[in-house]
Amino acid sequence: MLGGDPQVSGFEDPGAFGFETRAIRAGQPHDPYTGAVVTPISLATTFAQDAVGRPRHGYEYGRTGNPTRHAYQVCVASLEGARHGFAFASGLAACDALLRVLRPGDCLLLGDDAYGGTFRLIDSVFGNAGVEHAAVDLTAPDKLRDAWTPSTRMVWLESPTNPLLTVVDIEAVCAVTHELGGIVVVDNTFATPYLQQPLALGADAVVHSATKYLGGHSDVVGGFVATDDDRLADHLVFTQNAVGAVPSPFDCYLTLRGVKTLGVRMDRHEASAQALVEVLDAHRAVRSVLYPGRPDHPGHDIARRQMSGFGGMVSFRLYGGRAAAECVASSTRVFTLAESLGAVESLIEHPGAMTHASAAGSALEVPDDLVRLSVGLETASDLADDLGTALDAALECAPASPSELNPVS
Ligand SMILES: Cc1ncc(COP(=O)(O)O)c(C=O)c1O
Repeated sequence: MLGGDPQVSGFEDPGAFGFETRAIRAGQPHDPYTGAVVTPISLATTFAQDAVGRPRHGYEYGRTGNPTRHAYQVCVASLEGARHGFAFASGLAACDALLRVLRPGDCLLLGDDAYGGTFRLIDSVFGNAGVEHAAVDLTAPDKLRDAWTPSTRMVWLESPTNPLLTVVDIEAVCAVTHELGGIVVVDNTFATPYLQQPLALGADAVVHSATKYLGGHSDVVGGFVATDDDRLADHLVFTQNAVGAVPSPFDCYLTLRGVKTLGVRMDRHEASAQALVEVLDAHRAVRSVLYPGRPDHPGHDIARRQMSGFGGMVSFRLYGGRAAAECVASSTRVFTLAESLGAVESLIEHPGAMTHASAAGSALEVPDDLVRLSVGLETASDLADDLGTALDAALECAPASPSELNPVS
């Protein structure tokens, strides 16, 4: 549904509209009382009932349902091509809600590269509650067959992954998993529905850290789950209400506002990312550049098939090890050294010591010479100059032996 009453929304055939139109209008009818074109922030925690058990407009209590949250859920579900969408108070709350379908003794298989906080949730919270897990190299989907046990219920994957930008063939993983009797969850945070729609590739559920590209402005923490599976949807309705990790109406408003510009932002993130890949390629401190848009990236062909672009995240490894990586991450002026990603401002970080520290010592540990960039919307030449200067600094503070250095320059 694009926007409720077609008289009010002006949309009678939602299927006929493109991504950007749905981002701006889906779930967002003009306000029937005032004609306001922006969805109001509905702060009420409780809603009038006409008779016992007969809420006047379908809403009862703010944890259970809220009009601003409803608009946001309808909109992002529409962008993911899903029939059901659920907003949560953070990306990890969204992951937690999905993982709660698992029972003690069940096993989960996850890709061997993923956000460290997701790994911590699976390992330390669900692990302590008796849910088993194992990491699998999902770039070879048949490896799922070797790892599969009678207790395996779910495969959890990111593509592109955080932080190594590995691309997983979602269709192939779904085919093997479904044949073995499991379900597939895809964390679509890096790609966003603008570039990749996992449900159309066979996934059973999509999860987002809405804190990132969906919100897009580093001012709201949120999470989202989209699915076409009615049983999973029932579980998520129940969990939203029973556990209560729901976003505030203001957070829903902010995220919905961010989503309206998702398409144009992603185009610009990607254009600048491509330009920075060239800067990295040309610098002799750089050992390797991890970006799915590079023709020599091992997942490039899969990315071309299952994505409509390559996104705004770039990682790279340096000669000079951790000292060089920390030096680059601390030497920029336009890029801010900070955790998180996907917003208007460019961020740089050292995953091994920051976002992925909780994966240290596990199969998901990341190399310590790795730096991750979230390419923002600043002037592209400022970003290129800033990165080049920081890379030069790495040569000063962590000189590698000449034979180790990239011969390109
Ligand atoms: C890929 C991915 N999934 C999930 C999360 C968790 O989201 P949040 O920080 O909104 O809880 C993050 C956070 O960085 C992430 O990068």
